[in-house]
Formats: sequence, structure tokens, C-alpha cells
Amino acid sequence: MSAVTRYPIAAALMGLSLSLAPAAAWAEGGEDLARAKGCFACHAVETESAAPSFRDIARRFGGLANAKLMLVPIVHTGTDRPAVYHWGSANMPPEGARRPVTNEEAEALIDYILSVK
Ligand code: HEC
Repeated sequence: MSAVTRYPIAAALMGLSLSLAPAAAWAEGGEDLARAKGCFACHAVETESAAPSFRDIARRFGGLANAKLMLVPIVHTGTDRPAVYHWGSANMPPEGARRPVTNEEAEALIDYILSVK
């Protein structure tokens, strides 16, 4: 009996979580994509390591209107500028030295990185 009465409640909860899903699923998708593309070999979400954390990148560029425009190409090219401008002595290697990403994936990765709080 109790299973019969609980089932509709579970179904209602599932419906609720589905309707709330898009925002959370999107953020998780970004992290999964970063993992699949090997970004976490150097970056971490919150802690600085060989590379700046995604949170630090979000804090540094998040307020800029052209942040996405600036950062999407870097996902492809890496950085090859003198380190003074940037985070430290290390450069981000170019795409040939990492797993390739499409432009759509690069945009999704930057949307995700800039969303890290
Ligand atoms: C081999 C190590 C390595 C990998 C792999 C790597 N990065 Fe980086 N990344 C770096 C380093 C080092 C920097 C800091 C570069 C600098 O100061 O010039 C950086 C900087 C960045 C920045 C900030 C660029 C800027 O102009 O300040 C973004 C955005 C970024 N990485 C995204 C990614 C994404 C997305 C991936 C996965 C597709 C990725 N990185 C993979 C090492 C790496």
C-alpha cells in the first residue's frame, strides 16, 4: 500500500527536478567537457596550480563585456605572450599540444569558466 501512495510523490519530485534541471545540467556539462578535454591536467576549479584556477579566471575577466571574445581564441591558441601580462611564468600550450576543441566547445568551456563563482 505504502509503495502505491509513495509512487506518485516520487513521480512528482522527478518532474520537479526535471523542470529545475537546465541551469545545473548546463554547468555540470561545462565541467564534464573541461574534464574530457584535459583542461584539468593543469587547471583546477578553485585552486591555483600550474595554471590559474577557473575561479580566478572568472574573477579577472568576468566583469569585462568582451571576456568571451578574448578568451575563446585562447582555448585554441594557448598563450604565447610574455608572462608579465599574465598569471605567472607558464604559458598555456597551443591546441596542437592538447586535445582539440571545436569553436562551439571553446565557447561552452568559456561560458562555464566565467560562470564559476
Ligand atoms: C598544459 C597545461 C594547460 C592545459 C592542458 C590547459 N591550460 Fe589553460 N592555461 C594554462 C596556463 C599555464 C595558463 C596561464 C597562461 C598565462 O599566464 O599566459 C592558462 C590560462 C588559461 C586561460 C586564461 C587565459 C588568459 O588570457 O588569461 C583560460 C581561459 C584557459 N587557460 C582555459 C583552458 C581550457 C578551456 C583548457 C582545456 C581545453 C585549458 N585551459 C587547458 C595551462 C593549461
